[in-house]
Amino acid sequence: MRSLVVTAPVAEAELAADVLFGAGVAAVEERPSETAGCVELWTHVGDEQVAIDRVIATLAAGWGHRVVDVDETVADTWRRHAAPIPVTDQLTIVPSWLDEVETAGARIVLDPGSAFGLGDHPTTQLTLRALLRHVEGASTPPRRLLDVGCGSGVLAIAAALAGVDDVQAIDIHAGAVEATVANAARNGAGGRIAASATPLTDVEGMFDVVLANVLAPVLVDLADDLRRVTAPGGLLVISGVLDGRFDHVVAALSPMSVRRVEVLDGWAAVELGRPG
Ligand SMILES: C[S@@+](CC[C@H](N)C(=O)[O-])C[C@H]1O[C@@H](n2cnc3c(N)ncnc32)[C@H](O)[C@@H]1O
Repeated sequence: MRSLVVTAPVAEAELAADVLFGAGVAAVEERPSETAGCVELWTHVGDEQVAIDRVIATLAAGWGHRVVDVDETVADTWRRHAAPIPVTDQLTIVPSWLDEVETAGARIVLDPGSAFGLGDHPTTQLTLRALLRHVEGASTPPRRLLDVGCGSGVLAIAAALAGVDDVQAIDIHAGAVEATVANAARNGAGGRIAASATPLTDVEGMFDVVLANVLAPVLVDLADDLRRVTAPGGLLVISGVLDGRFDHVVAALSPMSVRRVEVLDGWAAVELGRPG
């Protein structure tokens, strides 16, 4: 197995970890670096060089990187420490290897594989809550939903289990598409979720709800298409943005307008409406 090791200045360690999560990794471990003033971020993006190169392409110019052969990846270590994650009083995300643990209410059983999204990241939690609030507040569940950057499929599965009939889930990371297909089946939602690596530019039609938990620069790049695929009167939920640092993303999505902002641990989720 291969680990990707990124070396970044201590002051940029958090940013570097966010970039790695935004690129779809499941876990990151910080370790001391032999380079003064720097830390190493160890992560795993699968063993294929093409997947590793795709993540390397997202790194800032000043950060170093190397690929190391390992017996156990960071994701494996992290698996041993994983625990069920409450989303609401009525919904818990349960790692598939802990399926026997008892929980109250409904559950989503998840194995993220090499993809991002066991459900514990603040941006995932914020997006899930926005989704559930919207579905519960509607007289009938939205009919069509698009999950842009589906990772493990956690948001798409929550939507399908909440009653959305037609869920499309897309991701540029092949491991994420695989994980979404497997997790959808694991939760009995395979018939409602179509997962693929289709680029957003090629997605046709419009959706009542669009979810996009990807980093701010990606949201800006995708803004025209996010607006295009959100149906008139529909809802777009963006996350992956830092609290107080998303005005440029909202500007790129204009004339969509902000309906609500929720914040958790320094991250924000912004709900935007497209005029009917
Ligand atoms: C922060 S993770 C979110 C995963 C999951 N939706 C969640 O909320 O836990 C971001 C995901 O977006 C994917 N991604 C990044 N850029 C993308 C793009 N341009 N189009 C589609 N997916 C993208 C990454 O591969 C990664 O799986």
